[in-house]
Amino acid sequence: MCGIVGYVGPGSSIDVLLGGLKRLEYRGYDSAGVAILDESGELATRKRAGKLSVLTDDLQEAPIADGRTGIGHTRWATHGGPTDGNAHPHLGDGGRLALIHNGIIENFAELKQELLDAGEAFESETDTEVAALLVGRAYRETGDLQAALRSVVNRLDGAFTLLVMHRDEPGVVVGARRNSPLVIGLGDGENFLGSDVAAFVEHTRRAMEIGQDQLVAIRPDSVEVTDFAGAPVEAKEFEVAWDASAAEKGGWPSFMKKEISEEPDAVANTLRGRIVDGAVVLPELEPLAGALADIDRIIVIACGTASYAGMLGKYAIEAWARVPVDVELSHEFRYRDPVLTSRTLVVSVSQSGETMDTLMAVKYAREAGARTLSICNAQGATIPRESDAVLYTHAGPEVAVASTKAFVAQATALYLLALHLAEVRGVSTEEQAAERLEELQALPEKLAAVVESSSARIAELAGWMGDTQSVLFLGRHVGYPIALEGALKLKELAYIHAEGFAAGELKHGPIALIEPGQVVFVVVPSPREPSSLHPKVVSNIQEIRARGARVIAIAELGDVAVVPFADEVIRIPLAAPLVEPLLAVVPLHIFGMELAAAKGLDVDQPRNLAKSVTVE
Ligand code: G6P
Repeated sequence: MCGIVGYVGPGSSIDVLLGGLKRLEYRGYDSAGVAILDESGELATRKRAGKLSVLTDDLQEAPIADGRTGIGHTRWATHGGPTDGNAHPHLGDGGRLALIHNGIIENFAELKQELLDAGEAFESETDTEVAALLVGRAYRETGDLQAALRSVVNRLDGAFTLLVMHRDEPGVVVGARRNSPLVIGLGDGENFLGSDVAAFVEHTRRAMEIGQDQLVAIRPDSVEVTDFAGAPVEAKEFEVAWDASAAEKGGWPSFMKKEISEEPDAVANTLRGRIVDGAVVLPELEPLAGALADIDRIIVIACGTASYAGMLGKYAIEAWARVPVDVELSHEFRYRDPVLTSRTLVVSVSQSGETMDTLMAVKYAREAGARTLSICNAQGATIPRESDAVLYTHAGPEVAVASTKAFVAQATALYLLALHLAEVRGVSTEEQAAERLEELQALPEKLAAVVESSSARIAELAGWMGDTQSVLFLGRHVGYPIALEGALKLKELAYIHAEGFAAGELKHGPIALIEPGQVVFVVVPSPREPSSLHPKVVSNIQEIRARGARVIAIAELGDVAVVPFADEVIRIPLAAPLVEPLLAVVPLHIFGMELAAAKGLDVDQPRNLAKSVTVE
């Protein structure tokens, strides 16, 4: 939610900022702006409503002078609509200071009143301008940008990453963060700041974390991190695990298409190095080592797609490790006074590791004495830092706003956790563990087969459905989260009404929605298991078919029982019941993408959404 870039160095600030913003555009894309301090010491800003391309075109038509110090911002509006005036940067100190912000300043109304009383004038409706004016006033008193920002941060409630520069301090960008992301990129004679490493990975893979309530000043040859009181802090350096090309479209028509094609790799990379001699090896869980054998309950917290991965995790953990698991939406979790003890393990699942609802829920759980584990894809993100331990998914950068490859990687990580728990709690035999691991290891190849075999047909089906107003998704057991995920993708990407139901619930209400021509995707479980739900799901298909539904079944190869009742059968390879849903989700990801494409919509940047939602 809002992307932030800062740069000091000999290169072209405009190029670095626009390149960084391009990579951060997934975070928000309703307006963008830059501020540059040019060689003559003038501070120039340019900001435009609309996607980044509007700003880029504008800068091409009417360039501003380049310089060695700059900040850039891509916005997802909170306070004040997406207009040129509300876009960042905002100015303070009579136009001598520029500031950008990610987050929400909750006490902005009272601070605004204070500033109005003091005679300051506002040019926007944003909460951010309050911070710009406050830091500007503080600078007038101190003449020191770091000191000025430090004196203001403690007056702000809420969440913020702030970057600020002043025309009287060329070659310096100062940043501060509380509950919002910021990382440092370490270059050679140049340094960077960004909401995530994607902002600067094109220039350097050396990065540094900035902790909660810390302030950083970057200069071409130095990086200084302090806490909000001014005491120096030793920041942790890390190497970005992927290079810039991983975050490029690389010839694909959309990031989403590329990322769906990377689902097999996302799983393979999440498994890599974690299965040794037929056993799960997760050294990352060491900080929880003493606790895992004793936990009596797990609560998985997550939002959106990540919560559906959490639901898959519940089936696996309960089946394999026999620990009760609840899955909750992060934003509901902490407001209902949940019962948490030191024997509760709270597992957060988040691709970005920055989702504010999830971050707040993790903090709440920790304060209440629970153990916390983060399953996260983005290195150096906030949620892992706020958790007792982290199990990274290695899906690589996910740029398209709607999540795809991160979902299969999250489920894979949860399955590894389930196997690990089963082992430390002594509830599985070696043979069972080996069999389950073998299934997981076979998954990437099977995923690749589904991408290969289903893409063309799904694209054809979607192409015929451009006018469809509503699509329903049915699944049972592990097929249920897949139905929910299929529906979410369609809402996010194609902006049509879509619902996922547990197939057994159909007769309790949703069947009333079925009318002739209603498209229903059904995730069909394998008929091979003795206790399989297959016959029940086939009965459900017959029930909706009898009422005129147009059924698209996702069923395993060789399942002939479903053929007479489905209008279309999309085949997936044979897999164990808990693994099967990860194959079934692929055609649904493809369908969401292709239907959006058929409607001429922007698949990577759907309206009103942002990839990393850093507001509550
Ligand atoms: C946003 C995105 C969703 C994503 C959810 C959780 O709503 O649009 O695609 O599933 O956030 O994101 P996270 O980064 O926590 O996995």
